Amino acid sequence: MSKQSKDSLTNVPKNEIWINNLEYFNHSNFENMDINEVASLILDTYKTYNGRQFLNEDDLNFLLPSDKLEIERSTLSHVLLRHRWNGNFCSPIKERLNTSGTTMLDVGCGPGLWAIDMGLNHPSSSIIAIDIDPSKFPPNDQCPPNVCFLTCNAVHGIPFPPNTFDFVNISLMWSAFSEAQWILLIKDLIRVLKYDGWIEFTEPDPALRNGGKNLTWLLESFANACRDVGGVNIRIYEKIPTYIRAMDELEDLNCMSVNYPVGEWYGCFGKYSLDNLERLLKAAVYLPKYIGISNEQFNNLLKDYLKEANETKSFIYIYKYFAKKVSKKAPII
Ligand SMILES: C[S@@+](CC[C@H](N)C(=O)[O-])C[C@H]1O[C@@H](n2cnc3c(N)ncnc32)[C@H](O)[C@@H]1O
Repeated sequence: MSKQSKDSLTNVPKNEIWINNLEYFNHSNFENMDINEVASLILDTYKTYNGRQFLNEDDLNFLLPSDKLEIERSTLSHVLLRHRWNGNFCSPIKERLNTSGTTMLDVGCGPGLWAIDMGLNHPSSSIIAIDIDPSKFPPNDQCPPNVCFLTCNAVHGIPFPPNTFDFVNISLMWSAFSEAQWILLIKDLIRVLKYDGWIEFTEPDPALRNGGKNLTWLLESFANACRDVGGVNIRIYEKIPTYIRAMDELEDLNCMSVNYPVGEWYGCFGKYSLDNLERLLKAAVYLPKYIGISNEQFNNLLKDYLKEANETKSFIYIYKYFAKKVSKKAPII
């Protein structure tokens, strides 16, 4: 890395509080916004940085934008994930989901595609989907009647009584929580899970396999920027099984992985997964400054580096972990 980029690294705020970092990237661009976006900026719900809109919450670690482009990326990402896993879940709970009165919770639902899919496929169950950002929720007329959306910051506690849900799903939340928050959140999710209910996690190992030198370096810089700017460990996939094993209330832990090709070498899927990666790296508006280059230099470099994925036949792994809440202990007498 050049001297210039090393120096600029030291300029990146390393404080724990994301709100201070927000000032660092503040560039408003009102001309390209509709009236709702402008209103939410005036009300301070959102702030813009490098042309992207972010939620303006004091204790939020989440590093991805809250805007239309991110909704599009998240939608693409869900479709790719569902295709690669051949479905929306792996927990052995299919029969139960078709039983009347079954309840499910989706944590950090984004545009809600998982919840909608599950609602349509299991009409006798009820699904609650929560997210901190209601602007991502789909319009009511696009939701089946058994799905509902709730605005909630998951790290402030899941607002349901103990033993409420038969199935809890949490997927692609690698950029949302610190390690300490993950541990507290998992405990709270176990609390709201029914005895014998299942909880399922889906998270990527972001290390590129068969990666070219440049794209590998860029993804490592992205991981480091998430750690330094947002206090987030995007390799949380490797910690989750340890957390689960340490919690007495869960048993029957299953670990599965699929490879997830990135690049046109893998046809249509690879083309779209590369598109998803490009959108993700562009959404990381703090990255150019972190590695010490201008936005324009970053965009040019990104175009070149992404080509490597096609040449080297790159892929990543995506992991699923699912486990069951232990049965309720029978009274001794
Ligand atoms: C990358 S998206 C994942 C969406 C979806 N789960 C999926 O698998 O496609 C992460 C979502 O988590 C939400 N999120 C981030 N921090 C959160 C928090 N503290 N509480 C609730 N939702 C949060 C974001 O608004 C975003 O919609």
